[in-house]
Amino acid sequence: MMVCSLELEDRRRALSGQSASTCDGSAGRIVKENCAANSRQAGRWPVNPAGVDALEEEGLNSVLPARSSLLGWNKHFSSGGRNYCMRPIRPSDIELYPAFLDRISARDIKQRFLVARKTFSSLELKRITQIDHDREIAFVVLEAEHEDLAGVGRLCWDPAVGTGECALLVRTDLQGKGIGSLLLRQVVAYAKLKTIGRIEGLVLEENLTMLDLCRKFGFRIVPHPHELGLRVVALNLD
Ligand SMILES: CC(C)(COP(=O)(O)OP(=O)(O)OC[C@H]1O[C@@H](n2cnc3c(N)ncnc32)[C@H](O)[C@@H]1OP(=O)(O)O)[C@@H](O)C(=O)NCCC(=O)NCCS
Repeated sequence: MMVCSLELEDRRRALSGQSASTCDGSAGRIVKENCAANSRQAGRWPVNPAGVDALEEEGLNSVLPARSSLLGWNKHFSSGGRNYCMRPIRPSDIELYPAFLDRISARDIKQRFLVARKTFSSLELKRITQIDHDREIAFVVLEAEHEDLAGVGRLCWDPAVGTGECALLVRTDLQGKGIGSLLLRQVVAYAKLKTIGRIEGLVLEENLTMLDLCRKFGFRIVPHPHELGLRVVALNLD
């Protein structure tokens, strides 16, 4: 069953008004296919991150979800004198989201979801944290001391297509410390493991930080074929 993330749903909503025939671009293709899946069920490098002082991989963790593909994806690092842990998202992380979202600026919310949003329902938060690992992975970064959520990197893919869509969100007060770079590196590494051939993303043209980050990771950046003010970023992994 296709479980689409809140992020992707919102990003599709941001593109609503597109006719099916406008969904034929690269990122647009994901939009179209995921829309179809939605209606069916009626019912998301090689770079040394800036500011990161240390990065250490952790071995098996018994608290992780019992999926062998997620074992070994925990990392610890420090930046700006603070310690952080990065690991795959867990359903219990839903508890951390309200405080996390409270500390994200309105501008960052819009850059992440492509539309201004003020609230997120509990159902939406469940969709973010209870994911279908056959089609989606999310890595969270936690402040080690308080276990507060500092950032999330997400990748959703359609196994039949072999293309994924990624998105990042780092808490506004913790940006510029290398967390986004680490999340993107993790997402790319996971995509390679899953033999996903291409990662794409939709980025507002005003979002120079994300575009800069994508450029450093080798993403190709082109204007969205149908939406003014939007860029499609794409990285081939083949
Ligand atoms: C985009 C985002 C994820 C980057 O996360 P981050 O933790 O700040 O990124 P990093 O600290 O790893 O910095 C990566 C690069 O981004 C750029 N960057 C970071 N902070 C920046 C700032 N304040 N101004 C300009 N560029 C900046 C730099 O190029 C930096 O690389 P460098 O310092 O090595 O030169 C974060 O700004 C964010 O969450 N923004 C809101 C949501 C969003 O835009 N998501 C992307 C769309 S899905």
